[in-house]
Amino acid sequence: MPDSLITSISYISTARSDLETSDFQIILDSANHRNAELGLTGLLAFNGLNFMQILEGPRDNVNCCIRSIEADKRHDGMVIFDRREAQHREFPDWKMAGILLSAEGSDTKLGIDELLSSKWVKPETRKHFVSFKSFGSQAE
Ligand SMILES: Cc1cc2nc3c(=O)[nH]c(=O)nc-3n(C[C@H](O)[C@H](O)[C@H](O)COP(=O)(O)O)c2cc1C
Repeated sequence: MPDSLITSISYISTARSDLETSDFQIILDSANHRNAELGLTGLLAFNGLNFMQILEGPRDNVNCCIRSIEADKRHDGMVIFDRREAQHREFPDWKMAGILLSAEGSDTKLGIDELLSSKWVKPETRKHFVSFKSFGSQAE
């Protein structure tokens, strides 16, 4: 049943140097709004220097959205490190869950560990975000 397959793309990128925490919330709000229209879901983490995002949904919408994201001047150096097709979404309850990681490596607001412990999240995805969280702890 290829039509029902979900495409997911994961990337890491570097935030524009003057990007602030408040900008992260703005990005997240617009992502939530647009993803609802496009049937996209996922997780976006920011450690003050880099973004890591997994975006999932119908293939054409994911591809279209990732092109917009790549062209966004608020970050650059996007490297897509994972692209897959799957039967199920890993973040079905989130248009775009947002995680702000502090310099100490601990997350604020929504807990990353809690999000990643969902039964839908694949072990590889968990590993990617856990390792991203440890990058954050080296940032300052
Ligand atoms: C790190 C980052 C993640 C983003 N994630 C999303 C997203 O999940 N969905 C989305 O629609 N826009 C996201 N955006 C915003 C898009 O880059 C873009 O501004 C928005 O889709 C509007 O695109 P358009 O001007 O081509 O219509 C993100 C931007 C950044 C910098």
